[in-house]
Amino acid sequence: MVCLGNICRSPLAEGILQSKVKSGIIVDSAGTSGYHDGELPDTRSIDIAQKHGLDITYQRSRKFIQSDFDKFDKIYVMDSSNYNNVEKLARNRKDMEKVDLIMNELNPNSNQAVPDPYFGGDSGFENVYQMLDEVTDIIVEKYNL
Ligand code: 4NP
Repeated sequence: MVCLGNICRSPLAEGILQSKVKSGIIVDSAGTSGYHDGELPDTRSIDIAQKHGLDITYQRSRKFIQSDFDKFDKIYVMDSSNYNNVEKLARNRKDMEKVDLIMNELNPNSNQAVPDPYFGGDSGFENVYQMLDEVTDIIVEKYNL
């Protein structure tokens, strides 16, 4: 799960999907920027997760790195800017075959963004939560996770 800062959207995506998959399935998240390296998720993401019964305070922000293409089978980005940033690190077409905008699993080829809630109010975080909750159900079913 990849976004820009790895403090708002992708920590929620990681926490929500991890809570739905079978044991042994590894879900991780990262940001393309590294702006918030080592930090906890944004308190607004922690609060929204908590409201829905999820603890994401075990997570720490880290930067997306090239070896993530080797380590993971699927790489979901939150918006097309994240996609372009990840693409800059890809070594070949095989790397990019793993990458997609997460909402394309719900609405194929729509390239719909999970909107960046960082500069907005709390409702943006609830909206992000609801979008990710819906699409992760589809991901679990599609890949039998
Ligand atoms: P995220 O949100 O990409 O969902 O984690 C952001 C977090 C921090 C910044 C931008 C977006 N920032 O500019 O610091």
